[in-house]
Amino acid sequence: MKVLMISGSPRKESNTDMALAEMKKIFDESDIECEVVKIGSSNIRGCTDCRKCLETGKCVFDDLVNQAAPKFEEADGIVIGSPVYYAQPNASLTAFVQRLFFSTPFDKRWKVGAAVAVARRGGCATAFDAMNKYFGIAGMPIATSQYWNMVYGRDPGDVAEDLEGMQTMRTLARNMVFLMKSIALGKEKYGIPEKEDHVSTSFIR
Ligand SMILES: Cc1cc2nc3c(=O)[nH]c(=O)nc-3n(C[C@H](O)[C@H](O)[C@H](O)COP(=O)(O)O)c2cc1C
Repeated sequence: MKVLMISGSPRKESNTDMALAEMKKIFDESDIECEVVKIGSSNIRGCTDCRKCLETGKCVFDDLVNQAAPKFEEADGIVIGSPVYYAQPNASLTAFVQRLFFSTPFDKRWKVGAAVAVARRGGCATAFDAMNKYFGIAGMPIATSQYWNMVYGRDPGDVAEDLEGMQTMRTLARNMVFLMKSIALGKEKYGIPEKEDHVSTSFIR
């Protein structure tokens, strides 16, 4: 089984990286293959709504998004972690994930998603909610932990002192492993649910 982890932080040895590393320890112990992709210091532009991806199956901006796409397709689960900027996931993470989800045509249903928010003091809950939206629209079960998935710290390394936050990360990883394995068993035993052709309600008459 494979997990793809995305860190939105631009900082070296950042708090977000440390929170994800705490999860990775559990994935490693559980023999889950895991790759961390750090995108925060790259030049990731936002979606321009050109819709070329609907024809080609990939984004016109050939950057980290297209490199991560096959990794996401192969993965059984994805973790998106972001520093909180003004009570939101940061701009790099937002641009990256919006383009990744919109430009990739593969079926994301039953891949497990987990969001992690890291802040000095405030805004974790709104950032966390925003990140979970990507999973919700894609039919992806959301892994939860013992609290909302958030860790506190300002300077790089501070999160090591947030013992509850780091425990939350370990719990989240364990729960995610359990969900991924359970879904794999469920797929074998019951198969995945039927998918109807999508109906789009239009209120413009
Ligand atoms: C532009 C900017 C906006 C920020 N906004 C918030 C905020 O809304 N709430 C907060 O508690 N911390 C805020 N912070 C602090 C970071 O969330 C905090 O330093 C965090 O540890 C950064 O994570 P990182 O080390 O993974 O980059 C902000 C930092 C920056 C640079």
